[in-house]
Amino acid sequence: MRNEDSSVQATFNGIARRYDLMNRLMTLNSHARWCKEVATFATSGHGASYLDLATGTGVIARAIREQSPESTIIGADFSESMLEVARTMEGNESIDWQFADAHELPFEDNAFDGVTHGYLLRNVSDLDQVLNEQFRVLKPGGVVAALESSPPSDILAPFIRLGMKVVIPTLGTLIGRDRPAYQYLVDSTLGFLAPKALRLRFEQAGFRDVQVKPKFMGTNMIWTARKPG
Ligand SMILES: C[S@@+](CC[C@H](N)C(=O)[O-])C[C@H]1O[C@@H](n2cnc3c(N)ncnc32)[C@H](O)[C@@H]1O
Repeated sequence: MRNEDSSVQATFNGIARRYDLMNRLMTLNSHARWCKEVATFATSGHGASYLDLATGTGVIARAIREQSPESTIIGADFSESMLEVARTMEGNESIDWQFADAHELPFEDNAFDGVTHGYLLRNVSDLDQVLNEQFRVLKPGGVVAALESSPPSDILAPFIRLGMKVVIPTLGTLIGRDRPAYQYLVDSTLGFLAPKALRLRFEQAGFRDVQVKPKFMGTNMIWTARKPG
């Protein structure tokens, strides 16, 4: 694993216990709703096998379980501490929680009807490899659906940027008790690709029908794309 990825892994291991609470505060309680939307896109084809990458505490994986009760679901992450929270949460027993690095997935080609992830891409050292891996493990016709943060770009962008720089590290200090981890969140979001550039990377990986839906003043995006059938 590259140094950048090890450092990201250590960051998420450190914040796992307070992660859900911080997420609810930072998104004004919208995160779970967006995750349901991601799950709805992924399960729209009535598939039977799903992979939720960078599953964290498993919010998207649980939403898939609600929407597709009979399906097989793997929640994968490279943070053991996040997986530990997911494994011990009530109601999560029917999901298979596995350790996996998104750069090198331990799954067969064409294995899943849907792949989902939340807040993965801004954290990885090799975005193209991560997208290629998702393409590889999807069945032809399968869907990828993802929630990703995004640098603000509309007319209010300077104010939103300023707000993020002040509010998130402050919450990270007071509630998350790890200011550097939440400073990293702000820096990695503001430094991440604009939607136009990210669309191109999905297409370069082979995905088609790439669509994006902005949330929360453009600071969050729901992405969907399809592996050609
Ligand atoms: C911000 S959390 C998101 C968790 C969950 N998807 C959600 O929306 O609440 C990002 C997660 O991505 C995981 N992650 C980051 N890079 C990864 C990689 N290369 N492989 C697997 N997981 C990774 C982290 O361990 C962390 O659990």
